[in-house]
Amino acid sequence: MTKTKIANIPYGPYVTVLAGASVKGKPNYATIGAYGVVSQKPVLYISLKNTHYTTAGVIENGYFSVNIPSSDDIEKTDYCGTATGNKTDKSNIFESFYDDAGNAPMIKECPVNYLCKVIQTIPIFDFTMFLGEIVAAYANEDCLENGKPNALKVNPTIMMGSGYFDIKDRVGSIFQTCSMNR
Ligand SMILES: Cc1cc2nc3c(=O)[nH]c(=O)nc-3n(C[C@H](O)[C@H](O)[C@H](O)COP(=O)(O)O)c2cc1C
Repeated sequence: MTKTKIANIPYGPYVTVLAGASVKGKPNYATIGAYGVVSQKPVLYISLKNTHYTTAGVIENGYFSVNIPSSDDIEKTDYCGTATGNKTDKSNIFESFYDDAGNAPMIKECPVNYLCKVIQTIPIFDFTMFLGEIVAAYANEDCLENGKPNALKVNPTIMMGSGYFDIKDRVGSIFQTCSMNR
């Protein structure tokens, strides 16, 4: 296999999610790739540019949501990453719902939703990383298998380079290769 050196920039892959916040009493969503887990605790991080409308809402309320869109909703998902709430009302792109555990909107159309309470804020360049404890989680019933979201049913979108991709197959089982760890 021949390796070629390429530019030092992050190409991905990243999972495409919609970060949600209430801004001035209305739901707003921004598409992000900068999201993930930070440990084995039920805590997620999102990293948002300081000038985003969503960022103001997370700071205002101390809560954010992470919504995992199905690849079937790619057009609306891309739109929320193109238009800004600073100029455009995005509150009706998706149908929102709420949980008593905190003030951030979640998206009905997204198969998986997490509501997070901000527990730590990390300024990084012109972005802010928000670490949030999961205080409520939802899933569409038809996406569950043994009570947990199934990846093929959720059909998440991977972003890499200039493209969005869905996932098409299960290729293995987690922790099933212990015999290789000799
Ligand atoms: C595929 C994709 C991924 C993005 N990832 C991020 C991200 O990780 N963090 C971020 O701050 N903005 C990200 N953006 C940009 C915001 O979604 C975009 O600027 C959006 O208009 C911000 O909306 P708002 O101002 O209403 O919050 C991404 C956009 C796209 C299309």
